[in-house]
Amino acid sequence: MTRTSYLAMATSALTMAIAAMGEDLEELKAYGRHLAGECTSCHRPDGAPSAIPSILGKTQDEFTALLTAYRDGRKTNQVMISVAKSLDDEQMAALAAYFGSLPAEGRDSGLK
Ligand code: HEC
Repeated sequence: MTRTSYLAMATSALTMAIAAMGEDLEELKAYGRHLAGECTSCHRPDGAPSAIPSILGKTQDEFTALLTAYRDGRKTNQVMISVAKSLDDEQMAALAAYFGSLPAEGRDSGLK
């Protein structure tokens, strides 16, 4: 097979993967909503000011970067380290999709 056809195959596989991701976003969010019960005992689901930072309305990248930072110990909050260590990548993505879809009212309220 030529290099070009490998490239064509890889490109169409990628396009298909991206299309599937779009269809699966609602499913991912639903899974995230299901998992969110573990989080909302501390993080308010309405984004109202509280002592614990709001996790609503973040981008997928921002959200997973924060959780990954706890998981690998760059952020040192013990509670969140154990929470993050209990999540696999799919669960993080699902939680990011769900919480990211909620309006970020009350975020950066200065009342952390
Ligand atoms: C027992 C309480 C508790 C639970 C349960 C909890 N968190 Fe947290 N979370 C915190 C606290 C406290 C902080 C702030 C820690 C710090 O200062 O680094 C935090 C920080 C975060 C941050 C970073 C926020 C920011 O803007 O810096 C994210 C993201 C997060 N939590 C996600 C989650 C997710 C997702 C879950 C559920 C799977 C969860 N948390 C469950 C208490 C909790």
